[in-house]
Amino acid sequence: MPRIHFFEFEDLPWFPHILRNYMTDFLQAVSHLFDVYEPIIPIIEKGLAKSKTNVIIDLASGGGGGWKKISSTLKETYGDHKILLTDLYPNLDSLDSLANQSSYMEVCRGSVDARCVPKLLNGLRTQFLSLHHFHEEDVQSIFQNTVDDEQVLAVFEITERSLKGVLSIMFMPITTLLITPMITPFSIFRLVLTYILPILPFLILWDGMVSVFRTYSEKELRLIIEKVKGSENYVWEIGKKTKGPGQVFYLLAYPK
Ligand SMILES: C[S@@+](CC[C@H](N)C(=O)[O-])C[C@H]1O[C@@H](n2cnc3c(N)ncnc32)[C@H](O)[C@@H]1O
Repeated sequence: MPRIHFFEFEDLPWFPHILRNYMTDFLQAVSHLFDVYEPIIPIIEKGLAKSKTNVIIDLASGGGGGWKKISSTLKETYGDHKILLTDLYPNLDSLDSLANQSSYMEVCRGSVDARCVPKLLNGLRTQFLSLHHFHEEDVQSIFQNTVDDEQVLAVFEITERSLKGVLSIMFMPITTLLITPMITPFSIFRLVLTYILPILPFLILWDGMVSVFRTYSEKELRLIIEKVKGSENYVWEIGKKTKGPGQVFYLLAYPK
């Protein structure tokens, strides 16, 4: 299947903030309810060890993704850690709510662009479900920025550019209808836009399907890595971890 970089509503600068937040809240709820990232905890632990810090700088955090579950598991398996949640368009309602429930999480209130992370933010850089949002030259900037700043980067994607990936996204509207009452923060408007005017199930289906076609393959990422100056001084581990019918694709980059 060829990679097609069609538009996602979430990426449009004019897209209403409230709708973007509802969509990233949905992703947060799915990641939490299905504990999607349970198999990649060892990758995060390895990334922390390689970065010689216990600080995680999460880029493109959206509504916080899987961090609630990941952080509570890390607490058991790794111990003390700090997670700074950042985004170009931070979903402050959800991020603040997560941070208020955990002493391990903090929210960066300003906008942080994953392509050019401020130098004062030191720690393991993570990106969940967001690499496909970037064009090839932007992915190259993310990798170059990591190498230039001598940082460690861990990237995770759960979409798959395959027939199986397309079929699994087809269930998204049903999942949306089933889990919406459990999504926090509670909002009557979210219920209206799901059950009375089903705009949210449509937006989630659209962005989900586009994400599938935007997902990078290992081969495409290796071609981008070749263009990064100094990439030969880094280890670029790429692989998959499975959980039931699902999978998490990962890339871990750290200095040799
Ligand atoms: C699909 S959401 C993923 C959210 C979250 N990481 C999760 O797992 O649920 C993609 C996020 O990427 C953010 N984003 C898009 N372009 C960005 C950029 N250049 N820098 C930082 N974040 C960006 C969007 O605001 C959105 O919150």
